[in-house]
Amino acid sequence: MAEIRELISEEKVNERIAEMGAKISQDYAGKEVHLIAILKGSVFFACELAKRITVPVTIDFMSVSSYGDSRESSGIVKIAKDLDEPIQGKEVLVVEDIIDSGKTLNHLKPMLMSRGPASLSLCTLLNKPERREVNVDVKYIGFDVPDEFVVGYGLDYAQNYRNLPFIGVAEE
Ligand code: IMP
Ligand code: MG
Repeated sequence: MAEIRELISEEKVNERIAEMGAKISQDYAGKEVHLIAILKGSVFFACELAKRITVPVTIDFMSVSSYGDSRESSGIVKIAKDLDEPIQGKEVLVVEDIIDSGKTLNHLKPMLMSRGPASLSLCTLLNKPERREVNVDVKYIGFDVPDEFVVGYGLDYAQNYRNLPFIGVAEE
């Protein structure tokens, strides 16, 4: 197992998620928000966020995999598990754990848009701006993080460390 250095404490993560939930509740006042959590990484964040949103919330899950090398996003996204419900006419908020190259969301967004949601916005717990290769318009960002491999709060390193309650850096 790798050595884990704490980057963002559990308290700070939870505080920030509460702020994001309050902002989303304000922005979607009078509406219902349909969260789409991208498996598996964003599930921990999506659940905490959902609990902090005060407008009616529904939630669905989608699993995507990108072809090719697993550490680098190829940008060609395959739906490994599709949504259970249609999104037509819904106020959709896609929830991600981290945006790195941006290729996954860049590819996913038009796919979801073609299903006719009332709106489609993106929300991510973490953002690595230095790694961005394609432009994605992200409405809600928890934290910008440096270009290091981060784990915890849903994020994994070879499927490990998802259950850490804080964000850490996996050091070899
Ligand atoms: P991208 O934005 O298409 O490059 O891909 C984002 C995906 O890559 C995320 O959903 C994560 O699954 C994975 N990823 C990128 N950076 C990290 C990291 O530092 N730790 C864990 N997973 C990461
Ligand atoms: Mg992911």
